[in-house]
Amino acid sequence: MARALDAATAPHGIDRYIELVSPTWSTTEVRGRIVGVVRQTSNTVTLTVEANRNWHGFVAGQYTQLTVEIDGVRHTRCYSMATSATASGRQFELTVKAHPNGLVSNHLVSRARPGMVVGLTPAQGDFTLPGQRPERVLLISGGSGITPVLSMLRTLCAEGHSGPVTFVHYCLTAGDLTYGAELSDIASRHPNVRVIKIFTDEPGAGDFDGFVSVAQLDAIDASWRQAETYMCGPAPLMSAAAAIYAEADLGIRLHTEAFTLSQWIAEAPDVSGAIRFTGSGTEVRSDGRTILDQAEGAGLTPKSGCRMGICHSCICPLVSGTVRNVVTGVVTADRGQDIQICINAPVGDVEIDL
Ligand code: FES
Repeated sequence: MARALDAATAPHGIDRYIELVSPTWSTTEVRGRIVGVVRQTSNTVTLTVEANRNWHGFVAGQYTQLTVEIDGVRHTRCYSMATSATASGRQFELTVKAHPNGLVSNHLVSRARPGMVVGLTPAQGDFTLPGQRPERVLLISGGSGITPVLSMLRTLCAEGHSGPVTFVHYCLTAGDLTYGAELSDIASRHPNVRVIKIFTDEPGAGDFDGFVSVAQLDAIDASWRQAETYMCGPAPLMSAAAAIYAEADLGIRLHTEAFTLSQWIAEAPDVSGAIRFTGSGTEVRSDGRTILDQAEGAGLTPKSGCRMGICHSCICPLVSGTVRNVVTGVVTADRGQDIQICINAPVGDVEIDL
């Protein structure tokens, strides 16, 4: 039926007409209306979103790709649900932190208001709690990486999980802490849950000082080696913890999701050549950044979502040349190969079908 209506209303499709009447109505697309806005800290906003009927829930740890229109251009970014996955209904919470170059995050932090309609995708991602919950769980988050990990904590608590759960959250100062009161409340109501807050730029203000280390983990929880660990945070935290787990031969217990790809610029020998975007006929001298950054710098508007190699929405075929994956270091020179342009940078001359 929806397909027939779409055909009858081509070229715009039935959704374009329906949204004139009600912006969240859609026969196929997931959309949401912001129904709650709380600014917990000066540079974050916590949004309660009510999705339309095309939303079918999520698993703790997953994210949605949220689209907003800024100055007439649609932009998409990934945000993890922070709510317990056991909650019924179509409302969930996202917390967004402003970043210096964060077009969408800055827009939401400064402009989000109740009634605003956003595009969404069905929940995605495999950074999730397994169906069979581990007995002992260690949750580690840094900064705005708290959201998927908080969803796991809220879900375990809502399910009445009785095994030991330790939640360790790092942020710069006490003033940067989101969900502080709720975390304390959870710890006071659940004897199996310990909440540890660490303010890395404010020694003495939190439960422990400094960055993650074996000594710190030993002091926090002597049984951390036996726990399944779920971690989301900025690159320095992620790489330090990954090294600790690898050194202890516990890599299999560590489950991670990065939430930012630190801006990456190639070493000098690779900052050469030109990128030609064959679809648009645009050509630029490579400045060493990822192809997505350089395409946007050239005025193109390629599709993107997470901008860190998770969602695959930025895929474009490599027409010619060589690219390097800035996360894994893998070099690709296969013509016609689909590449994620958000995490690949050119090595010399390249042509991309964009
Ligand atoms: S934007 Fe998500 S993988 Fe590239």
